[in-house]
Amino acid sequence: MIFQVSLNRKNFFVVLSVVLLLYFLVLLYVNLSKLDTLSPALLAVKQQPPKDEIIFIGGQFMHTDYLKTPIQIMQCSYQGKEYNVTITTDKELLKDANMVLYFDDGPDTFNPVPPVKDKINMVCLSESIYNTHCLGEKECANRFNWTISLPKDSDIRIHYFMNSLRLLPVGDSFDFQRDVMETKIKAKREENVGLASWFTSYCATEGSNRIHYMESLMKYIKVDSYGECLNNIELQGEQRFNTTKKFLEIAKRKFYFSFENSMCPEYLSEKAYQCLNSNVVPVIMAHPSATKLLPTGSYIYVGDFSSSKELADYLVYLDQNDEMYKKYFAYRKDKKNYEQWIKTFSDKHMYCDIFTHFQEWKLTPNNYISTIQPYNKSIECLDPNGLFKI
Ligand SMILES: *[C@@H]1O[C@H](CO)[C@@H](O)[C@H](O)[C@H]1NC(C)=O
Ligand SMILES: *[C@@H]1O[C@H](CO)[C@@H](O)[C@H](O)[C@H]1NC(C)=O
Ligand SMILES: *[C@@H]1O[C@H](CO)[C@@H](O)[C@H](O)[C@H]1NC(C)=O
Ligand SMILES: *[C@@H]1O[C@H](CO)[C@@H](O)[C@H](O)[C@H]1NC(C)=O
Repeated sequence: MIFQVSLNRKNFFVVLSVVLLLYFLVLLYVNLSKLDTLSPALLAVKQQPPKDEIIFIGGQFMHTDYLKTPIQIMQCSYQGKEYNVTITTDKELLKDANMVLYFDDGPDTFNPVPPVKDKINMVCLSESIYNTHCLGEKECANRFNWTISLPKDSDIRIHYFMNSLRLLPVGDSFDFQRDVMETKIKAKREENVGLASWFTSYCATEGSNRIHYMESLMKYIKVDSYGECLNNIELQGEQRFNTTKKFLEIAKRKFYFSFENSMCPEYLSEKAYQCLNSNVVPVIMAHPSATKLLPTGSYIYVGDFSSSKELADYLVYLDQNDEMYKKYFAYRKDKKNYEQWIKTFSDKHMYCDIFTHFQEWKLTPNNYISTIQPYNKSIECLDPNGLFKI
């Protein structure tokens, strides 16, 4: 009996030791593989942080796709010189950072996390002002030194879609039949695709009447809906959010519904640009001021039609008249204008804009707290039912 107990006890310690050893091995592996995700150049940054120009991203960080790795180096030019700007979510680099950036994504971002002392704290609203949490309140907005958003009185102005732009073939490198029509004719013949596609998974109807509008459109034309809202196309598992696949699908139809979730000044999401990238005509539902962000003649605006039926009839008409449809790609032939247009956006990258602002601030450092006027969506954003008659 005694012998048995002591053996069990011995066994117990052996098992415990093995379990502990395994546990430490797993921990070691996890930590090593974390380091593995950083290239040697990024590891060097972590081991010896640069003295200048580090932007730390704080708060509940939803824009994970902005940073593929916890440390990222961005090349920015300022007054003819090149700089390496470090952008990071790595907490060990926070003490070395000059600036801390919060995204105005949700109430949680600002609740437990106050701005960091002795750093320049910035808040960025990249979405529509309809969805602001911080910049809608004076108290929150004025806790930050600099604000980054679309409206004019922000310290650094951005556009949500800036990074969605690609330089497309233009002038003689563009051929309507080859670049636009071939894919569509093939998809129509082989897959019987609809006239237009739609990808929307945020189905709220508060700031936009896009769901009801679409319901009505679907009575008149065949729309392939991939998102959660009014879904009628089954995409398998991983394919659902694969952007390459998404662009290939968009390119198969003549039109794409780029319907926004709110009708606020100059708010246009990346959807419209994805469309231009895919050689498709976007049908835009947005604040009227947003259309000026697209090349002239490249889009159809829902507000120009007196009903969804009238819009549907027009799309069918274009479907049957290639010459009329082709006119929506005239902007691609006008190389000079196109390059001018893309230059106004693609030269800019938010992190480089922040860097430039920082360089200018360094010339005459001063203490400054944002004085931006809080946004009031019920004043700034338009009533969708008044704009778009179903
Ligand atoms: C920026 O980084 C690149 C590659 O890591 C390096 O070759 C270059 O010298 C750096 N430039 C500056 C201005 O530090
Ligand atoms: C995304 O979809 C494309 C086209 O279907 C495919 O070639 C690619 O392998 C997919 N990528 C991933 C990461 O699944
Ligand atoms: C940043 O704002 C804080 C208040 O939130 C202020 O105390 C500090 O002086 C400001 N710093 C700079 C560099 O403007
Ligand atoms: C926003 O504007 C509406 C309508 O004028 C007003 O009723 C509301 O109090 C304003 N909200 C704020 C936070 O100022």
